[in-house]
Amino acid sequence: MSALVGPPAYCAHIAEVLLSQEQLRRRVGELAAEVSRDYAGKDLVLIGVLNGAVVFLADLLRALTIPAELEFVGASSYGDGIVSYGTCELTKDLDRSIEGKHAVVVEDIVDTGRTLAALVECLELKGAASVEVCALLDKPSRRTVELHPRYIGFEIPDSFVVGYGLDFAQHYRGLPYVAVLEPEAYESTT
Ligand code: IMP
Repeated sequence: MSALVGPPAYCAHIAEVLLSQEQLRRRVGELAAEVSRDYAGKDLVLIGVLNGAVVFLADLLRALTIPAELEFVGASSYGDGIVSYGTCELTKDLDRSIEGKHAVVVEDIVDTGRTLAALVECLELKGAASVEVCALLDKPSRRTVELHPRYIGFEIPDSFVVGYGLDFAQHYRGLPYVAVLEPEAYESTT
């Protein structure tokens, strides 16, 4: 198991480091190489899903060997949205048009797949030339909708994970690794 680094108050609730900094660095490099190869010569826009994808996106973007524009969306397939497209409600819309551009949606984790399925539909409606998904983590056992991300960093088991952008109640995003939380962390807040 990798050494725990980060604020001691966070580390107290971590059951196990699932993906070390080195594993993440290597895999993100591989994903960036794939994206760079697949989108060479194309008008690429990376669309980060706020807030969880920010850390992954920052590393992915810097490892690309081709130019890419950057956009962000806030998406919610469950809660209150501000802008609505089909089944997708955006809590933050794109700042610029993506019409005719090749969009790669960058997400931290695919769980049921509902958020991303709705978001892909929404981006297609906005006239993107193509829309693909690049997710760092995938919990395929939890899928309830049809969604096949083109790029997946790691398939993980069905446990709640934090770190490297992923949160529990807005905490743990700054941890440099992906970790499984101890059940006490949930139980103490429910
Ligand atoms: P989906 O629509 O069910 O696929 O939900 C995806 C969203 O749920 C992700 O963008 C995360 O915000 C959140 N989520 C799902 N599983 C986890 C987890 O293990 N840790 C942190 N957030 C998670």
